[in-house]
Amino acid sequence: MSSQEDDGDEQPEQEMTAVSRHFFGDSEKPAFSISILENMKEEYGLFVWPCSVILAEYVWQQRLRFSGVSVVELGAGTSLPGLVAARVGSDVTLTDDANRFEVLDNMRKVCDLNKLKCKVQGLTWGLWDESLFCLNPKIILGADVLYDSSAFDDLFATVTFLLQSSPGSVFITTYHNRSGHHLIEFLMVKWGLKCVKLLDGFSFLPPYKASRLSGNIQLAEIMLDLEDAEDTSSSGAR
Ligand SMILES: C[S@@+](CC[C@H](N)C(=O)[O-])C[C@H]1O[C@@H](n2cnc3c(N)ncnc32)[C@H](O)[C@@H]1O
Repeated sequence: MSSQEDDGDEQPEQEMTAVSRHFFGDSEKPAFSISILENMKEEYGLFVWPCSVILAEYVWQQRLRFSGVSVVELGAGTSLPGLVAARVGSDVTLTDDANRFEVLDNMRKVCDLNKLKCKVQGLTWGLWDESLFCLNPKIILGADVLYDSSAFDDLFATVTFLLQSSPGSVFITTYHNRSGHHLIEFLMVKWGLKCVKLLDGFSFLPPYKASRLSGNIQLAEIMLDLEDAEDTSSSGAR
């Protein structure tokens, strides 16, 4: 998952930092672009991963759904999907590991760079901070947050809590489908969730974006499985 191998040579910070631009809309006449500050020295949170490009494009294509709703991005890193949501009118909170100050700082910088007002908040999966109780998102976003299986339960615990806190809400995530969808399916059943949409991430990408990416990336929309919850409670009552 590392963006670059570390050869031990120290390079000046400015040489490692770059601004990438991401366009949305018609390739000849884009509706807007989002600029992202990336730092190649960092492993995870300061690099735009392909899952993020795909999720951001989905947000753009589904922009009517995002207008005027409250959105939380988990493990946002460089935050491209959340910034697109803010650009199309969502009220956005960008979150990442509360201990990763350089990632949280970079989020504030990219908001300023794009003149977008988003809240930036430390949110570590599986930890119940007071601020978590005030979020109540209609849409939760997560790009490439399913990469370390030891963190899956913590992530799903947080997602399930947020879905329960806001009736009708949905978790939209893009992930590398390395070993089939089975592990995700197992976790959904375990946490009382269901998948309501599953797409090949490349099926809706415009060719000029698809040609620069590779991998088997899926997009899933996940909700609480209320029927499952009813079944469990009625069988418990019997
Ligand atoms: C592979 S990166 C993806 C970053 C960004 N979403 C993207 O796709 O470009 C995973 C992100 O999850 C964050 N993360 C990892 N473990 C976390 C945890 N336990 N709680 C919150 N965030 C975490 C990392 O800091 C990082 O920003």
